Amino acid sequence: MKGIPFAIFLGLITIGLPILYISVSHPRYKKSIVDYDLVDIESKYRQEKVQNLKNKIAEIVGENGKVLVSLDRLLNPLPMEENNRILDEVASELPKDLLDSLKDSIEELRMKWEPDSKKVQIGKEYYKNYCMTCHGMYGDSLPVTPEGLKADLGYPMYARDFTGKYHREGKVVFKYASSFLGEMAPDEELKRIIREGLPGTPMPGYPYFTDAELDYIIEYIKSLNPRWKFYKAEVRNYPQPPQDLYSEERIQRGREAFQSVCIACHRNPEAGEEPLEQPLAWYEFSEDGAILKDGENPKFQAVKARYFGKEPLRRPNPSEIFVVIQEGIAGSTMTPWKHLGDEKIWDIVSYIIYLQQKGGVDGNASR
Ligand code: HEC
Ligand code: HEC
Repeated sequence: MKGIPFAIFLGLITIGLPILYISVSHPRYKKSIVDYDLVDIESKYRQEKVQNLKNKIAEIVGENGKVLVSLDRLLNPLPMEENNRILDEVASELPKDLLDSLKDSIEELRMKWEPDSKKVQIGKEYYKNYCMTCHGMYGDSLPVTPEGLKADLGYPMYARDFTGKYHREGKVVFKYASSFLGEMAPDEELKRIIREGLPGTPMPGYPYFTDAELDYIIEYIKSLNPRWKFYKAEVRNYPQPPQDLYSEERIQRGREAFQSVCIACHRNPEAGEEPLEQPLAWYEFSEDGAILKDGENPKFQAVKARYFGKEPLRRPNPSEIFVVIQEGIAGSTMTPWKHLGDEKIWDIVSYIIYLQQKGGVDGNASR
């Protein structure tokens, strides 16, 4: 009779221990409670652009019934070939002189890309292996590790949301690869960032990925928001720094320019002042992905303006610093400063590199 309790005990151990092991050792793969629907997103985009085109046509030629009706064929998701064929048909019905003034609005409905399901599948495997813990099981930046991510300076931060569901306008925006007001980004810029990483943040570099591997990963990322289909990449220009970049005069001129405009957020690092915290364009959310509220209003993620001399730059090369100042950082309050003119921007680049070196911060992506 003694054997029965022992058998029960043994049974509990053999079943219980593995269950305990699985529940403790595996991270909790949470799915965000904020759902999003690709067909919905695409249909909304199409509706907006079709309506925009209709308004423009009606404005110029009045209610030209036939054209306006054929535009409705573009309201719902279509394969690229069919979409562009219909678009060309519609365009051919428009008077020639009108076509020119409508070109941009028509182009917004032209599909430039569609996901290749084979590539997406392969990319997804890479994504799961290398990116998911931080960028979320579904690419929405809900981290798999519940403790969250932190910048080198210790404040909490989120990985990029590739779905757009946590962006205040539902857009897919990249801080360093997108232009300030733009959405999405050229593949080349994304590849560079994935290879090099973002120093000062948890985003590591993956220098060993081949071009083909990065293509798969980017294909997967793009498949997460249909707005990519209508996007045409514009290559970025990185200008050569001037010969005298590190001259005393430049550094001094840069210091003066910096102290007249940039200290509003960056403060004066040479006087030991800490930069201000600034809001971002993405919502803050809880462990299950619910958007946090402050009374009625959603809470926004925040970031400290860069603390020069105390943390590495995300894009540390002189030409990159130039472009960041010129074009700003999308999704943040770091607006473009193009109007300062190239010479003054180079002065400030020179001063920022001086601050980094003086503070002993390694300027290069060293991870
Ligand atoms: C250890 C965490 C972590 C891992 C792993 C990780 N990332 Fe990131 N990633 C981040 C964080 C954090 C940011 C946001 C940095 C910021 O906002 O300054 C980011 C940002 C990005 C960006 C945005 C760049 C921009 O211009 O805004 C891209 C693209 C990206 N990651 C791709 C990837 C890919 C692809 C992988 C896998 C191959 C990956 N990341 C793996 C943490 C991570
Ligand atoms: C309204 C606030 C504000 C002002 C004014 C401002 N910045 Fe920024 N800046 C920020 C914020 C916020 C960040 C960090 C963004 C992030 O990491 O998401 C930043 C980041 C930067 C970076 C870091 C880029 C990198 O690769 O890490 C540089 C360089 C920079 N700012 C230069 C300037 C210069 C030069 C000026 C003046 C011409 C200026 N900023 C004015 C808010 C501001």
